[in-house]
Amino acid sequence: MKVLVFDNKRAGSLYAAQIIADKVIINNSVNEDTVLGLATGSTPTDMYRALIEINKNDVSFSRVITYNLDEYYPMKKSASHSYHYYMYDIFFQHVDIHEENIFIPNGELKNNELNEFCKEYELSIKRNGGIDIQVLGLGLNGHIGFNEPGVSQNSVTRKVALSDTTREAAAKYFEGKEKVPYEAVSMGIKTILDAEHIVLMAWGNEKAEIVKKSIEGRISEDVPSTFLQEHENVTIILDSESASLLNRSRVSLIESKLS
Ligand code: PGA
Repeated sequence: MKVLVFDNKRAGSLYAAQIIADKVIINNSVNEDTVLGLATGSTPTDMYRALIEINKNDVSFSRVITYNLDEYYPMKKSASHSYHYYMYDIFFQHVDIHEENIFIPNGELKNNELNEFCKEYELSIKRNGGIDIQVLGLGLNGHIGFNEPGVSQNSVTRKVALSDTTREAAAKYFEGKEKVPYEAVSMGIKTILDAEHIVLMAWGNEKAEIVKKSIEGRISEDVPSTFLQEHENVTIILDSESASLLNRSRVSLIESKLS
């Protein structure tokens, strides 16, 4: 794992955006698509802002294909709490991505339609050549996507139950925990680990403990983010607060990029 520590969220987010832009520029130059796995939540907002600027400055996203990690279930696409709404509001409507290249788990389906949808989601990723760069945030309980503690390493896109911690953390967006859905549709750990490059961001003191467990802890389904330790191309982007509990004696892990 490559662990990069920045002064603040903004500096780290610019770096994450540049990783994506570099890949898009290379692929555009040889007329190839770039397949991105995308995350929602408060973590990647500055990265999306930076990507919008990069797009304005002539890096076209017309050959970018995106797959979002997850969506609440049930959830109307048009609802302000939906990740559909978030993605269009924060990112898609501001860039030249083609509508048909946007894939987000569908929270509007009937229960008996979900299996087929999830299978097709996985197949669609494969048909497009797999995910080049998977962007991740990190839940307080170590979830990546909505893969909660106890998840299998072999999991793929499916309906999942949300943990109490996750529903608690989402309560501020839903005017109360009781309004937070109990379920979601999420890519699995295997879907995530199949990506060529994984970029995880985490900001603030609140994440310091789970960042430490994710990077230095034993690999276990109890902390789903520890599965990332088994992937050969992971970049962890932190600010000084989220990195504050890391074992500095293992400095080979830390490539300081203070800016
Ligand atoms: P956050 O959520 O970006 O809002 O902190 C991260 C997550 O739960 O995956």
